[in-house]
Amino acid sequence: MNQNFKESFEKTRLAGIIAAGALDEVAKIAIPGTRTDEIDKLCYEFLNDHGAYSAPLFYRGFPKSCCTSTNHVVCHGIPSSDKILKEGDIVNVDVTALKDGWHGDTSRTFEIGEVSVKAKKLVKTTYEALMKAIEIVKNDLPLGDIGAIIQNYVEAEGFSVVQDFCGHGIGKQFHKEPNVLHYGKAGTGEKIKTGMIFTIEPMINLGKFETKILNDGWTAVTKDKSLSAQFEHTIGVTEDGCEIFTLSKNK
Ligand code: MF3
Ligand code: CO
Ligand code: CO
Repeated sequence: MNQNFKESFEKTRLAGIIAAGALDEVAKIAIPGTRTDEIDKLCYEFLNDHGAYSAPLFYRGFPKSCCTSTNHVVCHGIPSSDKILKEGDIVNVDVTALKDGWHGDTSRTFEIGEVSVKAKKLVKTTYEALMKAIEIVKNDLPLGDIGAIIQNYVEAEGFSVVQDFCGHGIGKQFHKEPNVLHYGKAGTGEKIKTGMIFTIEPMINLGKFETKILNDGWTAVTKDKSLSAQFEHTIGVTEDGCEIFTLSKNK
């Protein structure tokens, strides 16, 4: 691989492993009775203990070290001492590590105790949509192919794709070009190239795709209050595929 890509891949790999490691620890306390501010504290400390910073903390005024988005919260939920996870909830935890100046961004949706059959299917479909998209990534793929594969798969299962938020280029900057849409038409858009690093992070709703932002200026919810799930990986494009920088040790 081109020498120029070597450093960015190596650095993103380090940040990605730390972010994924934080989520592996979160998994252990994703149980009924846990407060979302306990998840925040765990993330803050885990990142700190691994020589990293939380990129979300104070990012555009965001007050916490991770996002915790429960049930009908689509993304950017703010951890709080008032929010206690209960049996049947689903919660997305989104962690971005900043290590040696480079970012690794990943999220998973956890099931709290036993969840409904519908919620389980939503979470599984969202995860599979992300992994199906990752499978087709390689040099010269049009960005539209990523959106199309996610949208086709998710809609065939009867769910909808959020359009108000997208994946993003990432590196020394937390969010940069290109925007990676999770819906669209195959064969359209910019061609991705070897060496590019970006996230794919589909948000999938049980009901309609529309979202709105609550008065705190951050929390995005489904307009129809239906459940929403999300998974996110940071990946680097290679000639014949891609490297996932934020894989869990466990999964
Ligand atoms: N990690 C989120 C993403 O996937 C962004 C969170 S920004 C915050 O892009 F400020 F809300 F934390
Ligand atoms: Co992201
Ligand atoms: Co994220």
